Amino acid sequence: MNDGGDRASSAPREEYGPLGTTLVIIPTYNEADNLAPVVARVREAVPEAHVLVADDNSPDGTGKIADELAADDERVHVLHRAGKEGLGAAYLAGFRWGLEHDFGVLVEMDADGSHQPEELPRLLTALKGADLVLGSRWVPGGRVVNWPRSRQLLSRGGSTYSRLLLDVPLRDITGGYRAFRRETLERLGLTEVASQGYCFQVDLARRAVQAGCSVVEVPITFVEREHGDSKMSRDIVVEALWRVTAWGVGGRVNKVLGRTPD
Ligand code: GDD
Ligand code: MN
Repeated sequence: MNDGGDRASSAPREEYGPLGTTLVIIPTYNEADNLAPVVARVREAVPEAHVLVADDNSPDGTGKIADELAADDERVHVLHRAGKEGLGAAYLAGFRWGLEHDFGVLVEMDADGSHQPEELPRLLTALKGADLVLGSRWVPGGRVVNWPRSRQLLSRGGSTYSRLLLDVPLRDITGGYRAFRRETLERLGLTEVASQGYCFQVDLARRAVQAGCSVVEVPITFVEREHGDSKMSRDIVVEALWRVTAWGVGGRVNKVLGRTPD
């Protein structure tokens, strides 16, 4: 099968450096029933990888569970954040921590088991020849298990709308299972990222394409959570819609202005 994944963006560079140590960043808000199993699965699937839990002071005690996991395992770390600030802010703090601690690969993964740690080795293999790898539900071989039709439509609709408006040739632009080389993150201008909710994922993908990074989509099977609740909300959809629209319109205006002779 398509193990190297679909190359959806710029051509690959001639040579890619070695990958370095992997840090799997797991943002959490009320994931008490999910965290320990997913961390164990990561440690089993990629034993050399470290894990960073970025918890927004979850009322259900997820942060304390994370501390217990970290006390038992020197490759598990915890970033305690003061309160719920959204997925984007949690990842930005996690990336900063990972770059400061010299990790070579930074992985995004949900805490609820939707992103299967057993698929991580395939993402990391693809990253040997790319700047960024996206786990993709919407390329051949990709699947979603147990998602209501409404969520599938929202995800596919969001991806299509973003792809057309932003001219970004990716099938799953909102997905949250990704592996970045550290050099890629350093090229994305992270200090200017303002996206808070799930549109953070669209924001990073478009920045990577604009920066000329080679982005590969690898098919994944996304399995809907069994415990706890999704944090998807009306506010998250509204933020995504206005930001993507603003990026799309802004990009077009710039193009037109850029073409206008002085
Ligand atoms: N620290 C922190 N702060 N973590 C958060 C926050 C927050 O404000 N909001 C969500 N998370 C964490 C959750 O605890 C979970 O680990 C992960 O982010 C994903 O949240 P879910 O609520 O499970 O997302 P989903 O299943 O509805 O959405 C999936 O699809 C989206 C759209 O394709 C995910 O794969 C998203 O990454 C993706 O953007
Ligand atoms: Mn989920």
